[in-house]
Amino acid sequence: MPPKAAPYLPLFTTHLTSSPTSTSITLTTLSCPPLSATPLPRSRTVEFRGFFPTLNLHPTAIQSLKDQHIGLNPDIYESEMLALTTDKRMEKVKELESSGGVVEAVFWLREVGNMWRVRGKACIIGNPRGDGDEEERVARGFVEKGLRKVREGEGWSWERQVDMYFANHSPGMRGTFKNPPPGTPRNQDPGHPELKLGQKVEDLKDKVARENFRVVVIRPEEVERLDVNDPSNPIRTRWTAVRDGEEWEEVDLWP
Ligand SMILES: Cc1cc2nc3c(=O)[nH]c(=O)nc-3n(C[C@H](O)[C@H](O)[C@H](O)COP(=O)(O)O)c2cc1C
Repeated sequence: MPPKAAPYLPLFTTHLTSSPTSTSITLTTLSCPPLSATPLPRSRTVEFRGFFPTLNLHPTAIQSLKDQHIGLNPDIYESEMLALTTDKRMEKVKELESSGGVVEAVFWLREVGNMWRVRGKACIIGNPRGDGDEEERVARGFVEKGLRKVREGEGWSWERQVDMYFANHSPGMRGTFKNPPPGTPRNQDPGHPELKLGQKVEDLKDKVARENFRVVVIRPEEVERLDVNDPSNPIRTRWTAVRDGEEWEEVDLWP
């Protein structure tokens, strides 16, 4: 467990909260053999869902979690790990498996004139079989190494944490996890009558949607900030994790 927050975290958090319109990330993964004949970069836009496991829960999400007797996890952990959500049927999931999880996540926060690049390793949690699944166990162990316990409290669970991420999507967004298989030709039969566009999911434990819903957690190893507010003197700083994130080395770079 890292003893303290990374030194860049307060500034990064301030920049993110000052940029309400730009919380998308350009996420790059690598497709490696045997998934592709040679290593190939793959990038796409994804939505930043906060630093795992801190969640800005929507009031309707809180209500659904209460009504469906799931409840909320106590607020006892913090981290600098990036959270995002995805569908396990998407290519990025296979790419992460093929590459050992290497990623670069890039934020361009226009309102504050700063770009942040986060390099590290990603893993995926949220398999409905829980820790009965070997990959899920390994992924949870990896995330656990990056968690900081900030207060005492009982009853925190991985399952409920994934439920909370799912709950924080609108019923229509939850329904996308029951879309026909992403990236397959539209003229191909989705293979299952339950897989179609435009569904709304109220049940947070919906079997089909939860089979596909996953949370991706990125553990940073190297973080770079480029501040371009003063074009005559851009600020470029790099932080590198040492001893598995116990400490961070900071270097100012020529832009
Ligand atoms: C504004 C925006 C936000 C998106 N957010 C997500 C997201 O949070 N998670 C996700 O998996 N895909 C998201 N997508 C879709 C991805 O860009 C991409 O099409 C999808 O993940 C399939 O990519 P893949 O096959 O490379 O995995 C978003 C797209 C846009 C335009």
